Amino acid sequence: MRIVLLGAPGAGKGTQAKRLAEKYNMVHLSSGDILRAEKASGSPLGRKVATYMVAGKLVPDEVVVEIMAQAVAAPRQASGLLLDGFPRTVPQAQALDAQLDRLGTPLDRVVMIDVSEDVVVDRICGRRSCPKCGAIYHVTHLPPKVAGRCDQCGYQGQFEQRDDDTEPVVRQRLGAYRKLTAPLLEYYRRVSPDKVLVVDGNRRPDEVTAALVAKLAPAA
Ligand code: AP5
Repeated sequence: MRIVLLGAPGAGKGTQAKRLAEKYNMVHLSSGDILRAEKASGSPLGRKVATYMVAGKLVPDEVVVEIMAQAVAAPRQASGLLLDGFPRTVPQAQALDAQLDRLGTPLDRVVMIDVSEDVVVDRICGRRSCPKCGAIYHVTHLPPKVAGRCDQCGYQGQFEQRDDDTEPVVRQRLGAYRKLTAPLLEYYRRVSPDKVLVVDGNRRPDEVTAALVAKLAPAA
């Protein structure tokens, strides 16, 4: 199964993608994680993408399309692919469609996690992640079972906060989402109307997971 997960910053894409990838044995490719790894490497490309990311702006299409095309083409994606954060503009979606057509592996589902903007700022500003395995938490909505200890890998210590998770940058990211990413829903409704699913993300994480699993069941 090949799925694109759409949704505003803080909609819960990463949280749900990890759960779905495990349940359906899919490879989870997060463009944000891939770009953060490039940034952390300190390479010239990493320094270039960092200037956009810390400002809450989208990295230019040609850069993202090239990086993600390599990741999508890797042979291990054959079992299933879950794309989180990519595509994020109509030109990115067109490039992905063209690549998947060439590979003979079209998308099965485009899933939008729909959330209201007033909840996402709170969600993002309270997000923390495990520096060892990347598990995502929230200081109040989704804390680890034991304070300071990762449920997934047992790491103990300080959890990390992303440098673009501040309120001014979140507002900028939401602006970019409204202008450039929200139109993707219409794009997919036009080119693949029978593949688009919308799930209400304004609920507890477990309820959102259950709704996703129920809607994905016919394609799984
Ligand atoms: P990226 O890392 O993709 O960030 P984003 O899309 O802004 O999404 P987030 O990671 O902030 O949120 P999420 O939906 O994954 O939510 P999460 O599950 O973590 O991109 C970062 C930057 O990289 C971009 O700004 C851009 O510069 C660049 N970039 C990336 N892809 C690009 C592309 N394709 N083109 C160009 N540039 C690109 O949840 C958030 C918090 O809420 C967590 O604390 C979680 O615990 C909590 N939570 C989750 N679900 C719930 C729930 N149901 N109820 C309560 N709390 C919840």
